[in-house]
Amino acid sequence: MFNIAVLGSGRGSNFVALAEYIKTKDLPISIKVVISNIDGAPILRRASEFGINSRCIPHNKFTNRDDHEKEILKELTKYDLDLIVLAGYMRIIGGEFLSTFRNKIINIHPSLLPAFKGLNAQKQAFEYGVKVTGATVHLVTEELDSGSIIDQECVHILGTDSLETLTHKILQVEHTLLPRVVERLAEEKLQNEVNKGEN
Ligand code: GRF
Repeated sequence: MFNIAVLGSGRGSNFVALAEYIKTKDLPISIKVVISNIDGAPILRRASEFGINSRCIPHNKFTNRDDHEKEILKELTKYDLDLIVLAGYMRIIGGEFLSTFRNKIINIHPSLLPAFKGLNAQKQAFEYGVKVTGATVHLVTEELDSGSIIDQECVHILGTDSLETLTHKILQVEHTLLPRVVERLAEEKLQNEVNKGEN
């Protein structure tokens, strides 16, 4: 099994796309826990609907980021995790959290990085007037939206697009891109284990 955790702050549509993909394809991937920093975030309810363990660890109950992350780490280290997926997790990750899971945390971002980092990436792209934008899955590092790119998919901005239609088109692309990346990472890891076993 390839064990993952998902962290999110809101709606959770990427989590749902991932959980459905794993279920439909009956992949050897197990979502061990879903964690949110926001009380009542829809992603927590969506996790329960899939029968997946969920935890709310609100950042505003802690006086600093380190203490909040330590509490998240306490939860994450209960599982033998291969990957942590940030799916709409609106907090910067640092310190011990990052060093404990270095190269094992990925994020989905709604632009073709390195263009349009940070918040409202779809709006940034729309207002800039680029003709092509998209979605990126990348490794999480200290610097926001700057870790190695794992995969990307593009979306064309047509003259008829509004910010709303563009945001929708990008989200649709995210919903297939993220599950495909997770599947590939799981395949690579599980294949490595098989190879090691053969030596
Ligand atoms: C997505 O657009 C993702 O790219 C960004 O936050 C949004 C999360 O949406 N990081 P959802 O919670 O997965 O629906």
